Amino acid sequence: MEDNHRPAYHFLPPKGWTNDPNGLIHFRGEYHLFYQHNPEAAVPRNIVWGHAVSKDLVHWKHLPIALRPDKPYDKDGVWTGCMVDDGGVPTAVYTGVHPEVQCIATSRDMITWEKAPENPVIAGPPPGLQVTGFRDPYVWRSRDWWYAVVGSGIKEVGGAILLYRSRDLRRWEYLEPALVGEKAKTGEMWECPNFFPLGRKWVLWTSPVPLGRVIYFVGTFRNHRFTPEYQGEMDLGGCFYAPQGFRDAKGRRILFGWLWETRSERMSVEAGWAGVQSLPRQVSLSKEGRLLFQPVAELRQLRRDHFRVKPQPLRPGEEIPAGNLAGDRWELIAEIHPQDAEKCGVRLYHTGDEAQVTSLFFTRAEGKVVIDRTRSSHYEEVTRDVRSAPLELRADQPLGLHLFVDRSVVELYVNGHTCLTSRIYPRGAGGYRPRLFAEGGTARLSRLEGWTLDAIW
Ligand code: FRU
Repeated sequence: MEDNHRPAYHFLPPKGWTNDPNGLIHFRGEYHLFYQHNPEAAVPRNIVWGHAVSKDLVHWKHLPIALRPDKPYDKDGVWTGCMVDDGGVPTAVYTGVHPEVQCIATSRDMITWEKAPENPVIAGPPPGLQVTGFRDPYVWRSRDWWYAVVGSGIKEVGGAILLYRSRDLRRWEYLEPALVGEKAKTGEMWECPNFFPLGRKWVLWTSPVPLGRVIYFVGTFRNHRFTPEYQGEMDLGGCFYAPQGFRDAKGRRILFGWLWETRSERMSVEAGWAGVQSLPRQVSLSKEGRLLFQPVAELRQLRRDHFRVKPQPLRPGEEIPAGNLAGDRWELIAEIHPQDAEKCGVRLYHTGDEAQVTSLFFTRAEGKVVIDRTRSSHYEEVTRDVRSAPLELRADQPLGLHLFVDRSVVELYVNGHTCLTSRIYPRGAGGYRPRLFAEGGTARLSRLEGWTLDAIW
């Protein structure tokens, strides 16, 4: 039977489970994506590092499993980590679990991996610190030193990133916490930190336990201490976690994030897969110092049939389709001036049964952009909630929606800086037909175009 929920142009393994993206690197002209993976079943057990390669960030080739839990120091898990180019030698820095320690593995050909005899290279948290976790190293080079931050937290205090340095990736010296959060506000343990310079600032993003979403800080980094100046949210759709970024040869900062399932484990196990990676998002800094996100330009090569609708008023009670755009994988760009409408946005009607509908819209009164999936599926076993992100629009500023639909994935970019990624699981065969709408007043639709998209496999 056709699997109507399995994404066709987002990356996922051939079968089984995936969570965090790992080891992202642009190496010798190719993009490598490793990822937390259970090839046996759609459940988070017996995690290995899956591996795929791409020339264009869009089409991927699966490669053999890179790392398995086969050493005394990592027998309970080869968990999240990053990849650096150590003078031509790709070197993975990852967390081995038994319990959590930091390890490295190197390769000559990106296919076979050798774990270093010096492992674990960081054998435990700094003595004297009561930590809530110690994992997910993120490494960069600055002049003669390698630096690493390790995701952690200080008991009763809050999430933290611990800063280390090394000359050779093997002997590490602990420096200090580069930042410590407040437990009540930003959680008790910071998973999957990324810490890197962007323009004239430094950016830290992390996935705090137990928040289940990704926060970021933009600020300055001096004398081993990070001082945040701006704090933001990376994606408030409720399904996006543990992103990892890297810099490619064109100088772009690009991230992937894990899109988790919001259906029952039973449904995932029956389907034989769980988890998918987000589209590659290019990250930049706005003039005000917040992060901007856009899907990488390479994705445009997937565009097939094009639909465009002329600018027109959006009146309450009327819905405007995007020409004949429909199906289970497409992209839509819409620009709407809310004017005196209370709400405006787009509804995704399931073509097999229009009672299954998901709405994405802006509400002026609440100053929010919302994804409402309370009616997105007839299945009882899927999450059907309402999620939102704050959005302020000046009186003359349009709502800019850039939407990707890929079967169960709905990935929305709003005005270049706000993302809402969600998962929907309608029952029955069919795709989705988008219709634009306004309520409580008339809005003006100034741009509406869309494309069906090719599958990548
Ligand atoms: C985040 C995370 C990481 C850990 C990995 C294990 O989703 O919990 O902290 O390294 O997943 O798969």
